[in-house]
Amino acid sequence: MTTPEEAFEAFVVRRAGDGDVTAGVEMLRLDDLPEGDVVVAVEWSGVNYKDGMVTVPGNRVARTSPLVPGVDLAGRILQSHVPELPVGLAVLAHGHDIGVARHGGFSACARVPAEWVLPLPDGLSARHAMAIGTAGFTAALSVDELERHGLRPGDGPVLVTGAAGGVGSLSVELLAGRGHHVVASTGRADAEGTWLRDLGAAEVIGRDAIDDAPGRVLGGERWAGAVDCVGGETLARILRSLRYGGAVAASGLTGGNDVHTTVYPFITRQVALLGIDSVQTDRSRRSAVWKRLAGDLRPRHLDELVEQEVDLNGLPAVLERILRGKVRGRVLVSPGAAPSSA
Ligand SMILES: NC(=O)c1ccc[n+]([C@@H]2O[C@H](COP(=O)([O-])OP(=O)(O)OC[C@H]3O[C@@H](n4cnc5c(N)ncnc54)[C@H](OP(=O)(O)O)[C@@H]3O)[C@@H](O)[C@H]2O)c1
Repeated sequence: MTTPEEAFEAFVVRRAGDGDVTAGVEMLRLDDLPEGDVVVAVEWSGVNYKDGMVTVPGNRVARTSPLVPGVDLAGRILQSHVPELPVGLAVLAHGHDIGVARHGGFSACARVPAEWVLPLPDGLSARHAMAIGTAGFTAALSVDELERHGLRPGDGPVLVTGAAGGVGSLSVELLAGRGHHVVASTGRADAEGTWLRDLGAAEVIGRDAIDDAPGRVLGGERWAGAVDCVGGETLARILRSLRYGGAVAASGLTGGNDVHTTVYPFITRQVALLGIDSVQTDRSRRSAVWKRLAGDLRPRHLDELVEQEVDLNGLPAVLERILRGKVRGRVLVSPGAAPSSA
């Protein structure tokens, strides 16, 4: 049985009084972890944009200090107060307060409330689950929402923005797997065009090639649907160029959080803006989406989606790169051994 005295490694971010931030690997004990029903021996976590944001001085994403970032994690249950989640069960957890308001996955051990924990779906290893991670779950939610809105393969081109990043590349992968004609928009068309085509993109275009009517309230009707994790002016451009009845699933803000638009796309083309939130998705939807990710939405190129694997010491360089939009696909984090198994 793991004892509270046994130490393990974690990547800890500390905020000083002046808002400055320091980060590095520290030794923690189980007593340092927040309250919760289960302790998970974390085998894999992944790097998401939010993990970069909690290291930015003055950020409003981290809601506690010290904080172990890592908004997603997968591993085995080490200690449990809950019969439905027995010791040894392979599980995953992400979202809620994990990695922003309580310690997350960049740690050999994490303690979380049972409500936030899901058994790994059949056929997905912990590594596979984190190759998908929060980014892939968000991509799958986006695809699920677009399908609920009525999008079907054959309806026309589906645009994915920020395509070389985590949410974007998983969206390309999932939509292409469903048989859609995927148009991948990226600032890295030269460097990553071949990779995106290998994931299934039918076309790869630059960031600025989305809008064919700059300055007008409506553009040409181009997209049957869109997955956008960039926001800002990019989202405004998409709204102007959706086909009649089309929809955009909007999840992110790497390109900005102000969206300047008019009502015309909504009242003359009946387009829909579908908000995507992976953080507070209720347990039954979360479970259903993960079952799809292990089933009909299962990514075909999971290994190709992983750019790099790092240990906790490799995190500073990756966090800096994700903030600059330089990570391709997913980076996996192996946080090292938990003290001992139960
Ligand atoms: N709503 C939710 O529940 C949820 C869940 C997960 C993530 N998100 C959000 O989704 C976004 C993407 O997250 P991620 O983890 O996929 O990050 P990521 O791997 O860094 O991907 C973001 C991509 O955005 C593009 N980008 C970066 N800076 C840009 C700029 N200034 N203008 C235009 N495009 C830019 C880049 O793609 P290219 O190089 O291909 O252009 C970059 O790869 C973030 O805002 C994140 O907070 C939201």
